[in-house]
Amino acid sequence: MSAPAHPDSTDLDRLHSAVKREKEDLAPESQPAPLWAMFLLMLVAILAGGQLGPILNGGGVSFESSNLFVGSNSGDPRPTKGGEDQGADPFAKAMKKGAAGYAVCGGCHQGNGGGLPGQYPPLDGSEFVLGGTERLVRIVQHGLTGPVTVKGQGYNFPGGMMPFGASMSSEDLANVLTFVRNSWSNKAGMITKEMVAKVRDEEKRTTQWTAPELEPFAKKDIPGEAPGAAAPAAAAPAPAAK
Ligand code: HEC
Repeated sequence: MSAPAHPDSTDLDRLHSAVKREKEDLAPESQPAPLWAMFLLMLVAILAGGQLGPILNGGGVSFESSNLFVGSNSGDPRPTKGGEDQGADPFAKAMKKGAAGYAVCGGCHQGNGGGLPGQYPPLDGSEFVLGGTERLVRIVQHGLTGPVTVKGQGYNFPGGMMPFGASMSSEDLANVLTFVRNSWSNKAGMITKEMVAKVRDEEKRTTQWTAPELEPFAKKDIPGEAPGAAAPAAAAPAPAAK
């Protein structure tokens, strides 16, 4: 057994200086990441993964509305046959457009259709909305003025309600009226643009209606096909107009 050969002093120096260079002491402030930081990262990962959905939902953001595969008016994720678009259901289409058009009315009759006591009569539960379609169409086409009783309450807003026949197309009016007749607690047949146009053609009026003048039409429905008459039960609940 021979003693290991000692490297010469030059080699030792070089070796030591190399070791010193490699294993320099870390500065006291550069410690490895503390454990709590790792837990924090894990927590963030968990939240961002499985838990984010329920948390957001609890906060009122619905994932359903952003679901690309489910139409807003159907629980059936399969595409409609023949590649029809989702608005093919005339009632659902009218409700969607009518909800947007209702912005014109909502300023007075309110988003919840409740009107304003002493000023604007309600549309929710109104006999003028749910009754004969001919009276309803005439009211929006030419306006209404003078005393009127709605749901047992009297209204007589100065100047009454302006006509919409000139500013809105028959289709716009039909959609809004279908929306109004099927929102809140209301459920009634839809009104088509053909129905609105029929009354428009027959009416040669230039002034607002008064309630007594319209009494003869209170129960009169405009003849014509109402494709949505049987549809409301199957349709989605009316979007809340805000
Ligand atoms: C500037 C306010 C205003 C706007 C906008 C307005 N209305 Fe009216 N509406 C009234 C007032 C006021 C009356 C009552 C008129 C009267 O006193 O004779 C009325 C009456 C009615 C009535 C008959 C009474 C009832 O409550 O059922 C209907 C139906 C109606 N409005 C529908 C609509 C629709 C649909 C729209 C939107 C296209 C609309 N209104 C927009 C003010 C408004």
